Amino acid sequence: MPVVGFGTWRMRHDNAYQAVLAALATGYRHVDTATMYANERDVGRAIRESGLDRSEVFITTKIRPSDAGRARSVLSQSLDALGTDYLDLWLVHWPPSARGGSRQLWNELIEVQAEGHVTDIGVSNYTLSELDELLRSSGKTPAVNQIDWGPTRYDASTLAGHAERGVVVEGYSGLKNTDLDDPVLAKIAAAHGVTTAQVVLRWHLQHDIIVIPESSQPERIATNFELFGFQLAPEEMASIDGLAGA
Ligand SMILES: NC(=O)c1ccc[n+]([C@@H]2O[C@H](COP(=O)([O-])OP(=O)(O)OC[C@H]3O[C@@H](n4cnc5c(N)ncnc54)[C@H](OP(=O)(O)O)[C@@H]3O)[C@@H](O)[C@H]2O)c1
Repeated sequence: MPVVGFGTWRMRHDNAYQAVLAALATGYRHVDTATMYANERDVGRAIRESGLDRSEVFITTKIRPSDAGRARSVLSQSLDALGTDYLDLWLVHWPPSARGGSRQLWNELIEVQAEGHVTDIGVSNYTLSELDELLRSSGKTPAVNQIDWGPTRYDASTLAGHAERGVVVEGYSGLKNTDLDDPVLAKIAAAHGVTTAQVVLRWHLQHDIIVIPESSQPERIATNFELFGFQLAPEEMASIDGLAGA
């Protein structure tokens, strides 16, 4: 799973198409969408017209909890909209609120995955105890939990809990929910000659968290992907971790 993906939540129609095309031209090979974003068709068109082979791009989409009971038909609509015959990753977008609903929907995903059009299944916005409930009831651990993450949300025990369970953490809204003018981030960014947004994204990667930054601006799309030319020192990591308690 490419560790830097491209988020598409707010994008629709031509904006989504143009942004995904720009992201793929930059080098992103992982795109995150959802049925709820109403842009699967635009994302799919950009991937097809990028000139890349389908196998070179990791595609994640998500099913809404309200679609429980009809996962098979939702998957086939997503595949049709994306113009592909398989997903790399399919996530439950957030836990169903109905009692037993989470187990039921997860079992449906397991059943549908066995039919061969989904490589991996996972969840989003689940707590560790909600992950445990799925594991207990089905014997199958979600491959991924996509959660709201960033320096101010840093919590070592949550990360350790995912690692113990073998669940990959994907962080969302790490830029949106961070003060990118924070002096701690600004000092570290200046030391490495990068932006504070790059520092935040690099901090995720060094914690083994997959990132999926979204931007509609070509320059940011490019810099958000330039994360491999510098490395944060342990004391820099610790001071960013410390923003959670600040
Ligand atoms: N599973 C879920 O429930 C869930 C929830 C939320 C999001 N997501 C996924 O995660 C993706 C990212 O989440 P997100 O959009 O909430 O948060 P984000 O990627 O942290 O932040 C996006 C916002 O930050 C701005 N931005 C991007 N790059 C920047 C940079 N280098 N410097 C300054 N500002 C920058 C963008 O504006 P510009 O466009 O103007 O650059 C946009 O307003 C979404 O697209 C979606 O795929 C999932």
